[in-house]
Amino acid sequence: MTRKDDYYNRAKQQGYRARSAYKLRQLDDEAGLLAEGEIVVDLGAAPGGWMQVAAERVGAEGTVVGVDRQRIRELEDVAATVEYVRGDITEDRTKDAIREAVGAGMEKRPVDVVVSDMAPNMTGEYDLDHARSVHLAQQAFEVARDVLAAGGDFVVKVFDGRDLDALEAEIDEEFEYVRQMRPDASRKESSELYLVARNRLTAPVRTGDELEVDIVDTGTEGDGIARVEGFTVFVPGTQPGETVIIEIEDVKPNFAFGTVQR
Ligand SMILES: C[S@@+](CC[C@H](N)C(=O)[O-])C[C@H]1O[C@@H](n2cnc3c(N)ncnc32)[C@H](O)[C@@H]1O
Repeated sequence: MTRKDDYYNRAKQQGYRARSAYKLRQLDDEAGLLAEGEIVVDLGAAPGGWMQVAAERVGAEGTVVGVDRQRIRELEDVAATVEYVRGDITEDRTKDAIREAVGAGMEKRPVDVVVSDMAPNMTGEYDLDHARSVHLAQQAFEVARDVLAAGGDFVVKVFDGRDLDALEAEIDEEFEYVRQMRPDASRKESSELYLVARNRLTAPVRTGDELEVDIVDTGTEGDGIARVEGFTVFVPGTQPGETVIIEIEDVKPNFAFGTVQR
């Protein structure tokens, strides 16, 4: 029996609408993306296999918002809150409907995880299919930037090709790190892979920035603390009252580390 048959049959037996459900299961098992009570936005969600997996994993306190230009048949027997947005992700009104479904607005970004399994209609022409998949991934990234909370995660499918590195670098700017994952359930002959971006950064500083700061406080470990637009930057070896020039060494969702430049 081929691997394809294996996942297809397992999906049938276990009540998943699509064999692709196993891709999200495997991504989550390896990376630990989904947790109970979380809000998940699933882009390109029809027929609903990933939604079933996400709903299982976020549980009764969680919410799953499925988005697709095709109709998604209502999920049955799920404890999570489930919402459906029908529309094309490249259109503003679809993005507005997502924002509304999750209660995002102004500075409020309530979503824990954005996943996208969107794929373009395939032409068989490798470069064209790649370019279209990168375009869809960028649209998904736009949604993620719009609704994802600080510390949130983003998973996006893309076909391998020449623009992959640039896309990955663009996403990497906004997250603590990004890795490429190829779940076993992806067909062997497929060029698809998933970019898994962890810990969305909303910090006003980035690694490598050089800036002058006032040390205003001391942390529990004795490091000096500067605030940049209200964001905490730990600066080892400094005391309140000092003004120093620092280089940002490491950025986390809720704080960063800087070192004094001599
Ligand atoms: C591979 S399927 C997703 C399968 C899904 N993850 C599951 O487990 O059931 C890709 C989906 O992306 C959707 N899609 C592609 N382009 C889209 C777009 N521009 N806007 C919204 N959905 C799109 C397609 O309609 C299709 O349902």
